[in-house]
Amino acid sequence: KTVAIVGCPFSGGQPKAGVDQGPISLVEAGIVSQLEGLGWKVKFDGHHQFEEISAVNDPPIGILKNPRLVSRVTKSVAGVVGGHAAKGELPLTLGGDHSLAMGTISGTLSKYPNACVVWIDAHADINTIESTESGNIHGMPLSFLIGIGSKVDEFSWVKPDLKADSLVYIGLRDVDTNEKKILKENNIKVFSMHDVDKYGIGKVVEMALDHVNPNRDRPIHLSFDVDALDPSVAPSTGTPVRGGLTFREGHYICEAISETGLLVALDMMEVNPSLADEASVKQTVAVGCSLVRSALGETLL
Ligand code: ARG
Ligand code: MN
Ligand code: MN
Ligand code: MN
Repeated sequence: KTVAIVGCPFSGGQPKAGVDQGPISLVEAGIVSQLEGLGWKVKFDGHHQFEEISAVNDPPIGILKNPRLVSRVTKSVAGVVGGHAAKGELPLTLGGDHSLAMGTISGTLSKYPNACVVWIDAHADINTIESTESGNIHGMPLSFLIGIGSKVDEFSWVKPDLKADSLVYIGLRDVDTNEKKILKENNIKVFSMHDVDKYGIGKVVEMALDHVNPNRDRPIHLSFDVDALDPSVAPSTGTPVRGGLTFREGHYICEAISETGLLVALDMMEVNPSLADEASVKQTVAVGCSLVRSALGETLL
């Protein structure tokens, strides 16, 4: 078993500097040797460099910020992730902001058209060009992947191959009014923090998998936004929202998905080591690493 680390020092999907340092911090914290310690062969040939792409002249398209940059970076990430998947390696993408998932999920679907997506986040990240109020593309990747909202020429490379019923969310608690409408209209399954409180995380993960993967035979892409965790657990992130997953709830999700044996791709996104004090940064980076280890097979006993 081989895991291929795709380090993506990228922040163009949102306005706060520093999230591009996330993958660098996660690697510096020792994620490579930690995964080797779990028995993985780890491929890591350095972080991906996007400077050439960043040089483009990139005025907003409508309200969309950095559209050409985000499109070109995520397209290149799609190729890299798809390439690793095609070789039978498990791509672990370290963000960077969550717009990168446009690339990672496109890459996964190129190899595994039948894959389902488990999206762990405080946010729905499903705004369309019509619905977004911020214009930040990290709040939009899922609308492109599912193919809702008006088409944006710049993103025409994104195949709308993700079916709405192949996506399930856990952890949501900060969903824009427009997004609530989108989720309802498209019948997308959400387990919000209210559901986590009501049913407990064990039952929630079981129900989430029953929805996207009833026979437990479909490949799983797990996209984890560290802001799904409560800010007391993961403070160093650009859009923290109180009332999030506990340390154990976050890890339980990763452990349960690992236990299925169906994980084919993993994203760890939105770690921003320039936000909050040094101890908070250390804590957030450490929790990012330990979530990855859980998803890749670390057990408590
Ligand atoms: N819904 C808000 C927006 O569209 C916030 C999105 C936050 N996304 C994230 N990946 N942290 O701007
Ligand atoms: Mn690589
Ligand atoms: Mn989020
Ligand atoms: Mn997100």
